[in-house]
Amino acid sequence: MQREHWGSRFGFIMAAAGSAVGLGNIWKFPYLAGSEGGGAFLIIYLAMVATIGLSAMIAEIAIGRYAQLDPIGAFKKTGGGPWVIFGILAILTPFLILSFYSVVGGWTIAYIVKSFALMFGGGSGVGHEDQFNQLVSSPVEPIIYHALFMGLSMVIVLKGVTDGIEKASKILMPLLFVLLLVLVVRSLTLPNAMAGVKFLLEPDFSKVNSNMISAALGQAFFSLSLGMGALITYGSYVAKDSNIRTSAGWILSLDTVVAVLAGLMIMPAVFSFGMDPGAGPGLTFITLPAIFESMPAGALFQALFFIMLTIAAVTSSISLLNIPVAWLCDEKGMSRSAATILVSVVTFALGVPSSLAMGVWGDVQFFGMNFFELLSYLTDTYALPLGGIGSCLVAGWIGYGKIGREVTNDGALPFALLPVWKWICRIVAPIAILWIVATMTNLA
Ligand code: TRP
Repeated sequence: MQREHWGSRFGFIMAAAGSAVGLGNIWKFPYLAGSEGGGAFLIIYLAMVATIGLSAMIAEIAIGRYAQLDPIGAFKKTGGGPWVIFGILAILTPFLILSFYSVVGGWTIAYIVKSFALMFGGGSGVGHEDQFNQLVSSPVEPIIYHALFMGLSMVIVLKGVTDGIEKASKILMPLLFVLLLVLVVRSLTLPNAMAGVKFLLEPDFSKVNSNMISAALGQAFFSLSLGMGALITYGSYVAKDSNIRTSAGWILSLDTVVAVLAGLMIMPAVFSFGMDPGAGPGLTFITLPAIFESMPAGALFQALFFIMLTIAAVTSSISLLNIPVAWLCDEKGMSRSAATILVSVVTFALGVPSSLAMGVWGDVQFFGMNFFELLSYLTDTYALPLGGIGSCLVAGWIGYGKIGREVTNDGALPFALLPVWKWICRIVAPIAILWIVATMTNLA
């Protein structure tokens, strides 16, 4: 069977940017930047993205395009031997990440519903924190929303690469941008908005330390969707004559712009209403609804915000779902529909304990973490960084002959920085990533 390819370069960039732009940009980035030194964090984050992030992204896309296969097939073809372990990791990690990502995706849908209820006068009558806790700790409601979110992702992936993933991304990503801009303008025109801008952008260099640098690199990896074969798989549908470097540049710039805009949407509002910018996980689901409540037409803005967040999460989750699906189709000869349904059902089931961990199963602890936290910790700290190292090493060493040529389209697109890219992949990125793993390993 002929492998499907993206219909256009724009379609590929929207799909890959859709993968990259997710909860990591809108929920995590503003909070991290705010608490880790504002502008100083931003400068270090940008430096990480432009060097190691860009190099690893080029490596992943090039590996995928060279192999025209799923990650296991791609690692077999470019590295072979023990390198295939990285391919296996890239197929297993998406199950783990997607299972809890979809639970959170379900919460975002639940909040769209709540916002509409609010618009029609149906407030819940309880405080924002209680409302959130009630939702996530209920044994049934969040699982229904989790199923809804998984189902939505499944329907898109079922339709295939061009008719499903690409088409959805081409509509949803521009829509996300427009919603984000509307919300940024609303936020920046609130009284005292500048205090939030200052908090986000003013560099505090006294906060620069090894934890902050490792947090910046970890966030760059997560936010760019690196380290688990998402971009290897998307790269396998890229046309042979397109320029991998400019596409990577676009994907990375869009991801970074959205992260900064998300900061410019959230922080001014937080400061304008005298909230705590370091509220962490609760910022999105507890603090923001409190802000919307005290704003004119707040229910409308709240609905727009959670629609935007759901879009961001869905376009990321389809790229995750598509990884094991590509493997089942490429290597196991399954049909796309059977593979998509199978992976969706397994991932949904795996997500159920993550959802219950917020409530009735909260006491079931592993190393002092509940099931949800355990999955998130294992994937953030080990699976993604190790996957990233795998792609860089394969592209820089054993597969360099093939992948180096892929990056320059066999010399048709000369790349003056090829040696720099090679050495970042060979040495700089693997060492930097190992160092993040070491800094983040804090089980004790
Ligand atoms: N980049 C996504 C975000 O910012 C999350 C993510 C991490 C991801 N790794 C991924 C998404 C791999 C898809 C594939 O929220």
